[in-house]
Amino acid sequence: MFNSISAQASKLVNMTQSKRTINSNSKTKLITITSGKGGVGKSTFTANISYLLSQKGYKVAIIDADIGLANMQVLLNVKPQYTLFDYIDAKATLKEVILPTPYENLSLLAGKSGYKYSNHSNSFVLSRIVQDTLDLDEFDFLIVDTGAGLNDYVQEFLNISDNILALTTTDPSALTDVYALMKMLSKDKSSLMLCFNHTKTHNIGLTISKSLENLAQKNRLNSDFMIKYIGNVSSSESISTTGRLRKLFACEFTHDKVTLELNSVIDALLMNIN
Ligand SMILES: Nc1ncnc2c1ncn2[C@@H]1O[C@H](COP(=O)(O)OP(=O)(O)OP(=O)(O)O)[C@@H](O)[C@H]1O
Ligand SMILES: [Mg+2]
Repeated sequence: MFNSISAQASKLVNMTQSKRTINSNSKTKLITITSGKGGVGKSTFTANISYLLSQKGYKVAIIDADIGLANMQVLLNVKPQYTLFDYIDAKATLKEVILPTPYENLSLLAGKSGYKYSNHSNSFVLSRIVQDTLDLDEFDFLIVDTGAGLNDYVQEFLNISDNILALTTTDPSALTDVYALMKMLSKDKSSLMLCFNHTKTHNIGLTISKSLENLAQKNRLNSDFMIKYIGNVSSSESISTTGRLRKLFACEFTHDKVTLELNSVIDALLMNIN
């Protein structure tokens, strides 16, 4: 299986985009959540780990960077008066687009479904909103929820982030996309954090992470590039139910196995970020 993953991943990697890095002395740590394959649970994961971090007393802001299919406002039960595009289009100030949520210490820069981003293509406007939010120096964490795929917008966020977390499932097509991401990032990043959703045990994720590492070694990806396995999250039917009810699983089911797993992932995340 891992040979075919490698072959297919090569087709997905496209390194044509120009590079840009963020300059910041901000205390705010930038974390970008991505996956390659769609529907693996990124937005749900982002909302829940952000909530759990905020419960620990950290000030957290989420950027809904799923261009065109924004849904973080639904998960967090926020009715946005402004979206991040109002800031990009100079219709609102940065403070106005950083929205409070029903959860203490947790803010949202909402996206907008159906927005025609093509007006701003390659103008690095998304990097600018990240830079400006970091410069506020108000948050402990700025967490970016990207959309599916490795398109230009996702790459723009990956380019500017040193803390990248890939959420995947054990599904071969999801792993193919993760390997494509590893190939791309290994050229100029030092590491990638890997977390497995819909995965029953810690060991399943660990074993697959090791196989991906071995594949990287075999294919001579940059040997300084490290995969940091940070844990697994099981499936729970209540996750989609709470999502539909505009509630957060980790808030409603504080002692559930999934919430405990999410807390372990946070412990590993905090040990691994720059
Ligand atoms: N651990 C889980 N157990 C059960 N259901 C889950 C779990 N994680 C996510 N889901 C469900 O999977 C569906 C997809 O989740 P979500 O929208 O978070 O994925 P996504 O990766 O953000 O998708 P997209 O790529 O479209 O942005 C949702 O219905 C969500 O409730
Ligand atoms: Mg999503």
